[in-house]
Amino acid sequence: MSTRRGFFAQIGAAAAVARVLPEAAYAQRAAVKGGLAKDMVWLNANENPAGPPQVSLEAMRAVLSASGRYHYNEFADIYSVMAQAEGLKPEQIVTGAGSSEVLHTAVDLFTSPTRPFISVNPAYEGPRDVARTLGRPVVLTNLRDDYTADVRKMAEEADRAHGGLIYLCNPNNPTSAVTSAEDLDWLVRNLPANTTLLVDEAYIHFVDRPDVKSAMPYVQQGKNVIVARTFSKIYGMAGLRVGFAAARPDLIEQMSKLSLNVISIVSARAVVAALGDRDNIVRERKTGLVKIRRDLTAWLRERGVKFIEPNANFMMIDVGRDAHEFITKMPAMGVAPGRPFPPLDNMLRVSIGTEAEMAKFREVFWKVYKG
Ligand SMILES: Cc1ncc(COP(=O)(O)O)c(C=O)c1O
Repeated sequence: MSTRRGFFAQIGAAAAVARVLPEAAYAQRAAVKGGLAKDMVWLNANENPAGPPQVSLEAMRAVLSASGRYHYNEFADIYSVMAQAEGLKPEQIVTGAGSSEVLHTAVDLFTSPTRPFISVNPAYEGPRDVARTLGRPVVLTNLRDDYTADVRKMAEEADRAHGGLIYLCNPNNPTSAVTSAEDLDWLVRNLPANTTLLVDEAYIHFVDRPDVKSAMPYVQQGKNVIVARTFSKIYGMAGLRVGFAAARPDLIEQMSKLSLNVISIVSARAVVAALGDRDNIVRERKTGLVKIRRDLTAWLRERGVKFIEPNANFMMIDVGRDAHEFITKMPAMGVAPGRPFPPLDNMLRVSIGTEAEMAKFREVFWKVYKG
């Protein structure tokens, strides 16, 4: 990780000019501005400090020397394994370089000059920025008082425009708040005509609540729903760039026309290996994350610091004043927190790292908080 950061530090923020910026690129821009300390604790891009599972590392090592070949003949099987892991057929998924690529494709295809991109403010910026770059109308609705997405407002907006693409990030980045199964059900049942629902489940594996569910069953039922998933988060493979969209075959067929649908064989082998032990990997990583997340919320609670109840591998802390102060001061003290997320100007987004990283976070955060 430090090598990559060092490389980006050398070339400055120039890397952040891509059409769609993955989280790391947004985060990198903010961190580089803040100055880089040695041994920085990186809590700015919602990465997983565990990195790829051991089985994936072994699978990647095994294929490296054969990576001079395209391996195209293997991809049908690889995509079958990925689809099966979600109870889907291969024609119900399309892969991409991270979920960023499939999100981009979905925005491109399912919005138009008259079909807006509809979401909440704030949400993950990537898809919204793609819509803006493409000149598509963007409608952002306010969050409810409890920071959850107002599904009824989003449906109203789609109805008003006679159709659109509703982007629902669940759990939402940056708030770490979730959309309940009840709200999700309501939205799918009440999707206006000509409207596609794009559910971004980058962080769904970290949710620890019985009243929240994945939207994947709606894909299986053939609804107008696309689910975006990534191997960057719970699987710790952000730098390997693998994600996929799951949807009805006719939607996937359209998306496939705009996608290469080829990923690196090294990344593909890593994914297949991880899926072979999926239940254990997800369970162990989630359990570890939930404990560290609980420790942090308990620590904040003891000190009377407010926060949004977290459901992902990051959380929003209400610092009670403009969070810019934390964002600029903390990197010089060895901890890089998240970037600003207007209009939540008093909130600091912090990724959940290892126990040791969070100990350092608490020390530095508290110094800045006490002033
Ligand atoms: C909500 C959300 N969706 C999608 C992505 C894209 O990640 P990737 O392209 O690595 O899958 C991110 C990155 O952090 C994210 O936060």
